[in-house]
Amino acid sequence: MSELLLEATDLAKHYAVSRGFFKPKATVKALNGVSFTLGTKKTLAVVGESGCGKSTLARQLTLIEAPTRGALKIRGSDAARADKATLQALRRDVQMVFQNPFASLNPRKTVATTLAEPLLINTPLSAAERRERVEALAAKVGLRPEHLRRYPHMFSGGQRQRIAIARAMILNPGIVVADEPVSALDVSIQAQILNLFMDLQDEFGTGYVFISHNLSVVEHVADEVMVMYLGAAVEIGATKRLFAAPLHPYTRALMSATPALRAVDRRERIVIHGELPSPLQPPGGCAFHKRCPLAVAHCSEEVPLLREVDGRRVACHEV
Ligand SMILES: Nc1ncnc2c1ncn2[C@@H]1O[C@H](COP(=O)(O)OP(=O)(O)O)[C@@H](O)[C@H]1O
Ligand SMILES: [Mg+2]
Repeated sequence: MSELLLEATDLAKHYAVSRGFFKPKATVKALNGVSFTLGTKKTLAVVGESGCGKSTLARQLTLIEAPTRGALKIRGSDAARADKATLQALRRDVQMVFQNPFASLNPRKTVATTLAEPLLINTPLSAAERRERVEALAAKVGLRPEHLRRYPHMFSGGQRQRIAIARAMILNPGIVVADEPVSALDVSIQAQILNLFMDLQDEFGTGYVFISHNLSVVEHVADEVMVMYLGAAVEIGATKRLFAAPLHPYTRALMSATPALRAVDRRERIVIHGELPSPLQPPGGCAFHKRCPLAVAHCSEEVPLLREVDGRRVACHEV
């Protein structure tokens, strides 16, 4: 049985943005109502074009921001109602790995200090116990003992990401939110880092929310995939099912646009035209209708809701 780690219900984040000195503020609905669950040892991939709200979702899940609407439960605790002590415990339980390991590590701290710091702040472990824990985890992420005395600039991108992953895992969190963790790395290194994520999940049972703009990256790591478009989920379902037969035209377009996946989608290719609409003025009805080859008149009038189709949830009037 997989314990429920995360439960997001209609989670939304809107930002007020200035459009110029004399104009009233506008609202960007960066995240506009997503619902999903995540269990122990499971990976939910969140996929979509740049600007669709992936990082905004990550900031809600890691409690960096408070959502405008909706609810987030972490191991059954409602984050919005948690008292200070509970909130602190929840923050320890949800750690984050960022895209750019060059920016996310403190250049003035050795690897040993970076990894030991969360233990110093959050646990009663002695210095010797902290060192033991740091050395053990460093070995697990593929760092050698002498690496612990070095500074971030002495490492390659892939090794820095190993350090960042170790830092996220040091308190043995239940959940890790990884925002494009391999996008900045050479393709040859990406598979190694993905394997590392998988090995650590096997060992510690961590649940992952794995964010990527690239579908081919998530195929082998995710149990479930949520495809997002302009702040909302358009399709969510088991990875195997979704890759074998993507249903939403946007999911199919993303697959057609991913060279490594084209063989999978043997049905007619879907090519999307036009730019991602401005999130300040999203189209009415289905947010995707202006770019969608299947769109009919109805699509510009009514927002499609997620409904169960062929074992997954899809938001499209035409499937
Ligand atoms: N703090 C903010 N203030 C105003 N707009 C924001 C803010 N953060 C994100 N946005 C906007 O929200 C949308 C989603 O952004 P983001 O979550 O970064 O997308 P992604 O990570 O998928 O590329 C974008 O249009 C972005 O410009
Ligand atoms: Mg992002």
